[in-house]
Amino acid sequence: MSAVGPGSADRRRRLLVTGGAGFIGSNFILHWLARHPADRVVNLDALTYAGNPENLAAVEQHPGYRFVHGDICDNALVRALLRDEQIDHLVHFAAESHVDRSISGPAAFVNTNVHGTFSLLEATRDAWGRGDAGQRFVHVSTDEVYGSLEPDEPAFTELSRYQPNSPYSASKAASDHLVRAWFHTFGLPVITTNCSNNYGPYQFPEKLIPLTILNALRGDPLPVYGDGMNVRDWLYVGDHCAALECVLTRGVPGETYNIGGGNQWPNLHIVQRICDRLDEVAPTGTSRRDLIRFVTDRPGHDRRYAMDGSKLARELGWTPSHEFVAGLDATIDWYLAHRAWCERVQTGAYRDYLRAQYGERVPG
Ligand code: NAD
Ligand code: TYD
Repeated sequence: MSAVGPGSADRRRRLLVTGGAGFIGSNFILHWLARHPADRVVNLDALTYAGNPENLAAVEQHPGYRFVHGDICDNALVRALLRDEQIDHLVHFAAESHVDRSISGPAAFVNTNVHGTFSLLEATRDAWGRGDAGQRFVHVSTDEVYGSLEPDEPAFTELSRYQPNSPYSASKAASDHLVRAWFHTFGLPVITTNCSNNYGPYQFPEKLIPLTILNALRGDPLPVYGDGMNVRDWLYVGDHCAALECVLTRGVPGETYNIGGGNQWPNLHIVQRICDRLDEVAPTGTSRRDLIRFVTDRPGHDRRYAMDGSKLARELGWTPSHEFVAGLDATIDWYLAHRAWCERVQTGAYRDYLRAQYGERVPG
């Protein structure tokens, strides 16, 4: 993969990354500064429960890195950053990202995902006008905007209909539509990426894979929604970062690109695989599969997601490089090696959330 695109090879890029203290954003900043150490990276993050500046400890002293604690809805702050930092590349990760939280409290999703994206688009339009050849706004979105697939349906393409089913996916779909309109109406050089489920280091332990790993290590029940046969298309976060680098440096403004892992796994099989791996590397003398509990299903639970990534492969030459089982094992090893990080992110507020989320789910 060539990382540097025409028109941008010979100048120092100045990136504004929103939500860079979250799971994918922090992986992206570490990836970017390792590969482009001369660039400037400003990380704007509100530090919600999901944001953790500790993820960026490795670059805190990097001369090109700056952390700004603030909200993307704060239009004056975003305008000042775009101007003072002379930002020419914006990578927009900041979002409320957890479907279960969107069901128990959708307001924050509309606020950050819709109003926040609107605020960024307006501030960027003010700063850039129609943009020049080197400016890019990459909006990081999800496969969930396309709704749910039947078992035998082909994977989503960039032409699939938008049919969001959860408050989370509806708010992301709304933000995608705003981004599209700001290209067509105002000529803003935006690109949208729709990616499948990510896994890897620094994922907050409310999502399936890290929740299962940490519960299994503590000997706590492993909640599996419904019959456990819902399918997701899993992508290693490092592969997502490489795809975003490709899109940021060589993507075409106004285009959308689907990013997928080519790894369709039912949830139950993932949970079982995590149990078996932990039994190998951290044995307790019992089988962790005994901790699996089938619980009441998530309302409106999408049955299956799968992404067709052929446009990105064909046009920009990107394909994923991590095989799923190896990536999952590496992720389990990372959580085992970072127990202190896990302890610190599992604050009192997180424990309250777990009680509210799972306390009411009766075993099926
Ligand atoms: P995350 O929940 O781990 O992190 C979100 C980050 O955004 C946090 O650091 C949080 O503090 C910050 N944030 C939230 N509201 C903010 C606000 N108003 N202003 C500034 N910062 C704010 O999310 P993630 O899993 O890293 O996802 C990042 C992006 O990628 C999201 O837009 C999500 O929709 C998208 N995405 C995620 C996945 C996935 O599997 N995690 C898959 C496809 C797309
Ligand atoms: P999640 O990690 O929340 O991602 P998303 O809903 O965005 O795909 O969930 C992944 C899958 O795992 C989804 O089908 C719901 C399921 N799931 C469980 O079975 N148990 C759990 O405790 C969680 C959090 C998720």
